[in-house]
Amino acid sequence: MKLWAGRFSKEADKKTNDFNSSIATDSRMYMEDINGSIGHATMLGAQGIISTEDCDIIVKELNKIRDEITAGELMIDPDAEDIHTFIEQTLTARVGDPGKRLHTARSRNDQVATDVRMYLKKECASIKAQLEELLTVLQKKKKEYSKMVMPGYTHLQRAQPITMGYHFGAYIEMFKRDVSRLEDAVERMDVSPLGSGALAGTTYPINRAMSAELLGFSGGYTQNTLDGVADRDFCAEIACAMSLIMVHLSRFSEEIILWCSWEFKFVELDDAFSTGSSIMPQKKNPDLAELIRGKAGRVFGDLNALLTMMKGLPLAYNKDMQEDKDLTFEAIDTVRMCLTAFIPMIDTMTALPENMRKAAAGGFINATDCADYLVSKGLAFRDAYKATGEIVAFCIANNYTLETLPLDEYKKICDLFDDGVYDAINLETCVKRRGLFDI
Ligand code: ARG
Repeated sequence: MKLWAGRFSKEADKKTNDFNSSIATDSRMYMEDINGSIGHATMLGAQGIISTEDCDIIVKELNKIRDEITAGELMIDPDAEDIHTFIEQTLTARVGDPGKRLHTARSRNDQVATDVRMYLKKECASIKAQLEELLTVLQKKKKEYSKMVMPGYTHLQRAQPITMGYHFGAYIEMFKRDVSRLEDAVERMDVSPLGSGALAGTTYPINRAMSAELLGFSGGYTQNTLDGVADRDFCAEIACAMSLIMVHLSRFSEEIILWCSWEFKFVELDDAFSTGSSIMPQKKNPDLAELIRGKAGRVFGDLNALLTMMKGLPLAYNKDMQEDKDLTFEAIDTVRMCLTAFIPMIDTMTALPENMRKAAAGGFINATDCADYLVSKGLAFRDAYKATGEIVAFCIANNYTLETLPLDEYKKICDLFDDGVYDAINLETCVKRRGLFDI
């Protein structure tokens, strides 16, 4: 029986019932829906809007329903319209009239907005915990790799020497920002819309501060009831935070994929986090990293769909907004899955410092240091830069590196060179003078 059966003379069309329903997605919020209703009922009781006897019956039965669902004893009806309807109807079927009073001074519009915020707070906390776990692994690796010299790149061309530890440090900064972005979004989301009603609040003497506090909203309650039910900024903010996490995971994955190739061979993934080929016996593929890179688009799509869903909606609630959960949950679920695969893959990865060192020794990545050396001898940087460019061109044409080029050849291009150049262009010196070891 539909909630609105009194107004209607026909049953809902069977074939479109599923289309209208959100139970497949929102049943995962059963805990928040029930806790939200317990808070609401407690407030109604305290304000004398319902009797304390009714309040006690409602709260007791809702607690029971929640425990039964958690224990797998009560199955959520897949034909119900949504989790809110299912819980209310189950309650009413069990306790009768008091159950029918639960929805006093409330609409599903403020109810769903409240549930989603509560649920997302929990989800964000779990993603934050995963990010912190990742940061611990990255800190460990950064330390372990702090002396491993490798080429740093721009345009994927060898540029200047760095260490693998320092390279990992860049990702640490990105994931630290992801944590703070998430905290920031959660803080703004942590405000209760309950009491907004369908759109225009309610005529009952409710206590919004009380229900907000009972439901654990640390930022109190929303100020405008239209906005309370029509706002989904928090979904977009979270999807954006998830998208940036995916950008970072995907860039890191891309580097892992490159580093695993024979062209680089800077790292070796553990067998447990690699895959083979069905035909090529020699293959060891970084499938997990590729999948993470591949899944990024899905999360960006969720963000895009959320923004597009909202951009044309008149105030206040519109059914379009039911899409919010599918999209936000998919973004979070994807990030969770990716982090679950990524963390142990990185943790068990082996670095191959000889190969990195060998790559760093080619490509003239100490040329800037050679120019800086001439500057230290009194030459203007632009002149030093030009002279070094000529030296590099000579080396390429005559099969030298800056390390193997004899001093008299250096001197032919610029007579400021002396023996000290070899120390200045030593890769370890280059890294050390930039202060990149041990940071
Ligand atoms: N299931 C809806 C949603 O997820 C909440 C119910 C509000 N529906 C309504 N027709 N007012 O957004």
